[in-house]
Amino acid sequence: MKLVELKKGIYWVGAVDWNIRDFHGYSTWEGTTYNSYLMVGDKITLFDGVKNEYTDTLIARISEIIDPSKIDYLVVNHVEPDHSGAIPQLVEIIKPEKIFCSDMGQKALAGHYHYSEWPYQVVKSGEEVMLGNRKVIFQEARMLHWPDSMLAYLPDEKLLISNDAFGEHLATVERFDDEVDNSRLMGQAAKYYANILWPYSPLVQKIIKTVVDLKWDFDMIAPDHGVIWRKNPGQIISAYAKWSDCQAGNRVLVVYESMWKSTEKMAAQITHGLADAGLDVRQYRLELNHRSDIIADFLEARGLVLGSPTLNNQFMPQMADFLSYLRGLKPGKKIGAAFGSYGWSGEAVRQMNECLENMNFQLADQGLRHQWVPTREVLRSCYELGGRVAQEVKNYRFE
Ligand code: FEO
Repeated sequence: MKLVELKKGIYWVGAVDWNIRDFHGYSTWEGTTYNSYLMVGDKITLFDGVKNEYTDTLIARISEIIDPSKIDYLVVNHVEPDHSGAIPQLVEIIKPEKIFCSDMGQKALAGHYHYSEWPYQVVKSGEEVMLGNRKVIFQEARMLHWPDSMLAYLPDEKLLISNDAFGEHLATVERFDDEVDNSRLMGQAAKYYANILWPYSPLVQKIIKTVVDLKWDFDMIAPDHGVIWRKNPGQIISAYAKWSDCQAGNRVLVVYESMWKSTEKMAAQITHGLADAGLDVRQYRLELNHRSDIIADFLEARGLVLGSPTLNNQFMPQMADFLSYLRGLKPGKKIGAAFGSYGWSGEAVRQMNECLENMNFQLADQGLRHQWVPTREVLRSCYELGGRVAQEVKNYRFE
């Protein structure tokens, strides 16, 4: 494989994981990459590792450039095992002079791998360090994606190594943004943001402000997943600014589960009502769609209409899974409504409304429930519910 030199003497030496299909509950149907960067100067530094099972791949790639035992420093920007899994074996081979990490990073490394004697060098946020003749500035990026996470900025190279931030789960033979279809790339970047970073949006805003305030000058962002942004790093920063600010369009998702198709018939009419009112509406049956794909589409949606019949005094288990996952992502500034068919007790609509309110959704309607199979009249009410939700979405004023 050809060497990938992103800046003079700085190489991508990571691994492409074509086969991963689940990343803690997130469907990674296009795989991912674990990016690691080797910087060769009068000292040699490796930024971040890879998942444990790709350690040999990483070592083989480094060996095409230098003898891995010649590496002087390891930088561990983040300890989640998709990046640090290779570290114990690397430490054994390299015997690094120093392992740079944040204070939380040291604790997490010790907690994961139980080597208190490693040559940790804890760096503070904003600390400038000379790695031989190359300067790096570390900046804490707490919760992007764990409390230990850091950014590494190389001012002389105009390079930002951003770890999890600005990444995608996308396996490709291409390494740079300009080599991949942009809509595919941004689709995966949005899915990654929605499923991984959405709950930390206020911290995303804070780190963007910090980078602006510090006047960091870079023309390339090298994340630890997906492609390196060399043509248009501003594109992903603008997208993060928008997503973290809860900006959304006139999109509504109708997300439902059904038992004997009555709730499904109601869903179809609500979808028609929304569409006829001119909204961008998408309908998802939970059984047939992965939660993380629905969430990706929800990132830029303003409304969510939930449907479920009542099963044993509860909403359907697929809805419970979806709502539990959604609650953890803390979506902001959304409008919601609920509907469903029932047989005798019919608690599901009220329970879905409660979940929406607990997530601070603005309810567009008190909810629509119907016993047994919907009549033509009920289906008309569903269509009208779609229209009312559409009106709320159109009237929503972004603050
Ligand atoms: Fe890519 Fe939070 O690990």
